[in-house]
Amino acid sequence: MTFLYKANAARGAEWARFFAARAPELPFRIWPDIGDPDEVRYLAVWKPPDDIAATFRNLELLFSVGAGVDQFDLTQLPPHIPLVRMIDPGIRESMIEYATMAVLALHRDLVDFIAQQREQVWREIQIVSASSRRVGVMGLGLLGQAVLQRLKAFGFTLAGWNRSPRSMTGVTCYAGERALPEFLAQTDILVCLLPLTAETHGILNRDLFVRLPRGAKLINVGRGGHLVTDDLIDALDRGVLSAAVLDVAEAEPLPAGHPFWSHPRILLTPHNASMTIPESAVDYVLETIGRHRRGEALPGLVDRERGY
Ligand code: GLV
Repeated sequence: MTFLYKANAARGAEWARFFAARAPELPFRIWPDIGDPDEVRYLAVWKPPDDIAATFRNLELLFSVGAGVDQFDLTQLPPHIPLVRMIDPGIRESMIEYATMAVLALHRDLVDFIAQQREQVWREIQIVSASSRRVGVMGLGLLGQAVLQRLKAFGFTLAGWNRSPRSMTGVTCYAGERALPEFLAQTDILVCLLPLTAETHGILNRDLFVRLPRGAKLINVGRGGHLVTDDLIDALDRGVLSAAVLDVAEAEPLPAGHPFWSHPRILLTPHNASMTIPESAVDYVLETIGRHRRGEALPGLVDRERGY
């Protein structure tokens, strides 16, 4: 019985250390050193290998090492193998930090100041109070809610939009497609924390941008597939949007010459907003294996119908 890990190898070495300490009876291997594939009962991956079910015939549980599971082709996964996404305090805390950094950067006009510094321009910009800045988060899952919770401390006017209804104290919550225009009309800084599914693919597009107040700002910490590149560039060039912070791209690494690299109104990071912390991720994985063995419900279990 083996646990196989297939993701960043340096972090895998840390996983190995925590496995050795906390579950010495469960052999831990790092891809591509898979050993006997029939021994693999548990597999944790970032990019799934081809033919999972045919290669690992005795697989019992499949983990995404990330919060997202859009990299899996759910139609190729046999229904008896549960897919579990990572619910790790490390992911949550780093996402809160990044989203807070990005919201504050946009709120305090950092994109303009970077441009001014480049031009050696010393010019102040009128500060807008946080209470009159409306921050809206799309996607009120664990991460979206955690980000909003932390943003409360700054006094922003907060709203959230979600496919199904949610409620949060101090946050105006909107649900479903019909409520989207009303949510957007009152959002100065839009944060995308949606899962990527067939329904949300390309949701950050021209039609959505024009529903935001003119000059609104965008933060995409979801997936590159949420955003239509040409629509964003056009919206920034025409002043429909005034700035964007992007941590994800449709093709990663972002290809040379892509317009995101050089657009003066885009701040770009290399899919680095949030990461699992090996120690807490290993705790979560072992806890989930225990639950699975005992036949208990698995938090983080992916609903294949919804796609997340
Ligand atoms: C990162 O993007 C993740 O899914 O955790």
